[in-house]
Formats: sequence, structure tokens, C-alpha cells
Amino acid sequence: MNLKKAKTIKPQRSTKVREAYFLKYAEAIKEVISIPLAVTGGFRSTEGMNNALQSGACDVIGLGRPLCSEPNIVNELISGEKKSATLYENMLEFGPWIFGLNSPISLMRSNNKAAQVYWCYRQILKIADGNEVDTKLGLFKAFLDHFRDDSANSKKYKAFWKDLD
Ligand SMILES: Cc1cc2nc3c(=O)[nH]c(=O)nc-3n(C[C@H](O)[C@H](O)[C@H](O)COP(=O)(O)O)c2cc1C
Repeated sequence: MNLKKAKTIKPQRSTKVREAYFLKYAEAIKEVISIPLAVTGGFRSTEGMNNALQSGACDVIGLGRPLCSEPNIVNELISGEKKSATLYENMLEFGPWIFGLNSPISLMRSNNKAAQVYWCYRQILKIADGNEVDTKLGLFKAFLDHFRDDSANSKKYKAFWKDLD
């Protein structure tokens, strides 16, 4: 694939709903490849996904965060039970105002987003243990719990390999 060429191509096709932020790159990449293209990042609604597929911007839709909080979301979207995944990424924040997603402090904004990944990890661990996800889990608790468990597990991991030396 000629990536230089892909970079210079202007997206030709238009989609009605542009909820997926990588679609403009996907359209350019599609111009120079002949294999199916999967795009992940920002897809939430059936409408957005269908528009992306029908416009030919991509061939496969990938979902990341929605599967952590709503593990059955694909079936629910396909059956029509739901029209969109829940946008937890717009709701999960450490606190109001200065502590939140729209904080005037950029470090606080980025920490909120980083902690959301920890929140997702906590949900994945619940699913892995055969439990229901806990969408009421607070962002700060998820952050602290995961930080604590991750540090402890890293130590165990290092000790395990050291013992094998
Ligand atoms: C808990 C979690 C773990 C992830 N781990 C990886 C990873 O190991 N490698 C990777 O390329 N992307 C990883 N991602 C990014 C996702 O694959 C995806 O690109 C991103 O979440 C955007 O898609 P979405 O809007 O559907 O969530 C991870 C995302 C989450 C939430």
C-alpha cells in the first residue's frame, strides 16, 4: 500500500453521520487498498455504523469501550432493541467542574480520560469472573482500585519470572 498516496487523497465519499473519528482516514486508505478495512473508534449508533458501511468508507465496524460496559450491545443494536450504545465516556468523571471532563486544567481532563480506561478494565475483569458489569461504579474508585491491583499484580509477575531464573 502506498501510504504517502493515501495521505494526500482527499476523502470523496460523504457519510450522513460522522460519529467515528477515523472515517476520513479510512476513506483515503480505501482508495489505495483492495482488502476489507475494519475501523474502530467512536462508533456508537446503528445509524452511524450503517452509514459508514453503506458509504463504503469501511467494511467492518469495530467496537471497544461499548463492549466493556454493555457486553451484549452488538446483539441489542442488530435486533433493534437499542439504537445506540450508551456514551459512558461523556458521563464518567472524577467530579464536577474543575475535577470533570470539561475542567479548565488539561491534566485533569486527560486524567479523567485515562481513568476511563481503568474503569473499562474493571468491567472487563467483572465479565471475566462471570459477573455482571457495574455501570454505577464511580470513576475515582475504579481508578484507585485498578491502580492498587495493577501495582500488586506487576510485583507478583516480576517475582514469578525472577523465581524461574
Ligand atoms: C480497556 C481498553 C483496552 C484497550 N487496549 C488496547 C490495546 O491493547 N491495543 C490497542 O491497539 N487498542 C486498545 N484499546 C483501544 C481500542 O481498541 C479502541 O481503539 C478504542 O477504545 C476506540 O474505540 P471505541 O471508541 O469503540 O472505544 C483499548 C481500549 C480500552 C477501552
